[in-house]
Parts: sequence; structure tokens; C-alpha cells
Amino acid sequence: MPDRGIASVLISEQEIRTLVKNLGLEITRHYRQTGGDLLVVGLLKGSFIFMADLIRNIEYPLTVDFLAVSSYCDSTISSGEVKMRMDLQTPLQGRHVLVVEDIVDTGQTFQKVIGLLKSRNPVSVKTCTLLSKPSRREVAVAIDFCGREIPDEFVCGYGLDYAEKFRNLPYVGVLEASST
Ligand code: IMP
Ligand code: MG
Repeated sequence: MPDRGIASVLISEQEIRTLVKNLGLEITRHYRQTGGDLLVVGLLKGSFIFMADLIRNIEYPLTVDFLAVSSYCDSTISSGEVKMRMDLQTPLQGRHVLVVEDIVDTGQTFQKVIGLLKSRNPVSVKTCTLLSKPSRREVAVAIDFCGREIPDEFVCGYGLDYAEKFRNLPYVGVLEASST
């Protein structure tokens, strides 16, 4: 039985583990080929649980930093406007950057963040997301490592929230329509 407010389980704990393990393998393979310093940048808050599991599946030396941006105001509809809430502490020059997002929806957030990070002259910028909703895309963004594509439904859990709730669910579930 899913939790209160959740209509159904979309991705179980076990499936998440498999997705994250496979992403870790792909990312490891990529950076072993490339070489160089790797900085993994998590977009707060949504990516914090995914990020914690992902980096433990990457067998390549790395450092981490976090960037906080927001586009949603307690709603399931993106405002389209992306605000910087907390900047990185690490200079990007000379580093390979891997940006980690929980979910790519319209693509607005990723596009803005990638543009910002590239302007700081890193060696490279690659993107990783646990989930992607391709049918909702408004701007084209290149996703280098994607866990899973999902249909156009609002999902919560494993770090993803609705109005700051449900982040602690160990699975990804579809929000019940009556919760919004
Ligand atoms: P975008 O800028 O429209 O791509 O939206 C990206 C951000 O919106 C993600 O980082 C999430 O924080 C949030 N978001 C988009 N879809 C969902 C969802 O289904 N559940 C929870 N958050 C979402
Ligand atoms: Mg997010």
C-alpha cells in the first residue's frame, strides 16, 4: 500500500537501486576514459538522496558541491523562472563537472544551470538525472546519463517533493490528484 497522499508506486526501492547502480557504472566508465578531476554538483533540494546513493556507485575519485535553485512555488506547475538560492563553493576551472538532478521536466532549470556552469570555464559539463519527462520538454537539453523516462505525472519520494512533503518516501510514487 502506498502512503497517504500517494496514488501508486511508480518506481520501487529495488528498481531505484538497480537504476542508480547502472548509472554509477556508466559514469565510472566515462570518467575512467576521460581522466581528470571530477566535481559532482547536486541540485538541491530534490537530488540529495539520489546524489548520496549515486556517488557511492561511482568508482572514480570525486568531490561534491551543491547548488540550490528553485522554480516551483508549492505547485505542480513550473513557473518557468529559475532563481539561484545558493551558489557553489568550488571553482570550476580545470574540473570536469557532472550535474545531478532529480527530474528533468520542462528543461528550464537544467538549461539555465548548464549555461551558468559552462560560463565558469570547466573542462566539461555532463548531466545526470534520475528521471525525465520528455513529453513535457519546452527547451532541448542534453541528458548524458538518465535513470528512467516517465510519463507526464507528478511524482514524489526519494528526494522529490510536493510542497516540501514526501521527500522521505523510499520509493517514487504518483501524487494523488486530491493532494494538490
Ligand atoms: P523543469 O525546470 O521544468 O525541468 O523542472 C525541474 C524541477 O521541477 C525539478 O528539479 C523538480 O524539482 C521539479 N519537478 C518537476 N517535475 C516534478 C515532479 O513530478 N515531482 C516533483 N518535482 C518535480
Ligand atoms: Mg529539483
